[in-house]
Amino acid sequence: MVNLYNAEDTQNSMEEIKKFVLGQYFTKEEIVKRVINLLQSYKYYSKDVSILEPSAGTRNFVKELVKSGFNKINECEIDKDLTNNPQDFFNFEEKSKFDLVIGNPPFTKYNVKNSYFYPSKYQNISFLENGLNKKEKIQIEKAFILKSIKHLKNKESSIAFVLPISFFIGNKNNETKKILLDNFSTIIIYQNDKSWFEEPIPCCFAIFTNIEEYKDKIILLYEDGEKIKEVIDIGKLLTEELIPKSFLYKKKNGNGKGKHTLSKYLSEKIAKYQRDYKNNNISGANILTKTKIPKEKNIKEYSLAVVRVGNSSIGKTGLINIKENILNDMFYVFDFKEEHNLNKELKEKIVSEINKNQEHFRNLSVRVGSKSMKKNDLLNFKINL
Ligand SMILES: C[S@@+](CC[C@H](N)C(=O)[O-])C[C@H]1O[C@@H](n2cnc3c(N)ncnc32)[C@H](O)[C@@H]1O
Repeated sequence: MVNLYNAEDTQNSMEEIKKFVLGQYFTKEEIVKRVINLLQSYKYYSKDVSILEPSAGTRNFVKELVKSGFNKINECEIDKDLTNNPQDFFNFEEKSKFDLVIGNPPFTKYNVKNSYFYPSKYQNISFLENGLNKKEKIQIEKAFILKSIKHLKNKESSIAFVLPISFFIGNKNNETKKILLDNFSTIIIYQNDKSWFEEPIPCCFAIFTNIEEYKDKIILLYEDGEKIKEVIDIGKLLTEELIPKSFLYKKKNGNGKGKHTLSKYLSEKIAKYQRDYKNNNISGANILTKTKIPKEKNIKEYSLAVVRVGNSSIGKTGLINIKENILNDMFYVFDFKEEHNLNKELKEKIVSEINKNQEHFRNLSVRVGSKSMKKNDLLNFKINL
């Protein structure tokens, strides 16, 4: 690894930069224990199967596997501060085959240039299919998955990785997901309510395998005291948002208790509005004071603004004057449909109903680092007026 650092990174300490570039977030022992148990409850492996931990870090997975009695474990770790025998997984010889590849690969941090995988830096990139070898850069977790596939012995072999939960957003990462579908007929996605690292990074444990009983199935699991499980068709990998917490929440609670979705009242297209990061007069901090249309104002000029990001503010909604107000960039803004646009009472009632259900939007939006909601989370929300 040469040239780890970018000029723009200089305000961070070298330690921090290394952490971001190499994705050094070490999985807590109790989580490692739980996910190894989970794997064993779905797929039997005898203690003398061959295992690879491709990004061993502080060896949390390796130690736990040894404790569980596994005795043929190989490991790679690139950082010479963590191992006496540094090894870049992408230079690890492809002819070594394993029954199980398990661990927590580094994740790319979207704004850290050197946390990506650059195909041009390596000689052998035959593991990159579906046009991925032509890309200038790809997220490193995807490169880890794809190279790991090449290290599997046979159809009984599995990959079991901690992954960012955003990997399973519908219609995202489809080149990689298609390769996974060519190689595996069972996928298990596990999430719980614990924090897996020192930092709050939303992630899951994904097992890519073949289990006769669950052929062509995805098993979604969520634990928060209760254990929830849902088995769905594997084809949904490409199109659905397979985040166990939000998927299972939606299934249990639906999209709200009302009769009509908000798409009956709101225009589907995001409205045009004035936005300024610095000079705004509407933000998450004051949107809840904007729930009524003042008497002297033109009702037509009021659109609905909902906070789409941020743990504590997500779902907060108000009515903004499209001509006068300037918003920061935390919002989705929707115009009301023509036939409802002069109905002051309806506009105010909708805003009040959404605000009563902020918790619903919080539960749906556990996708990325900072909670974020999708346009359809709001448009599909059902209310009674
Ligand atoms: C997210 S940490 C996980 C460590 C360990 N698996 C765990 O769960 O605690 C990822 C590790 O991968 C290492 N790493 C990053 N790029 C690598 C590469 N190309 N080859 C091998 N290891 C790499 C990092 O130094 C870091 O220790």
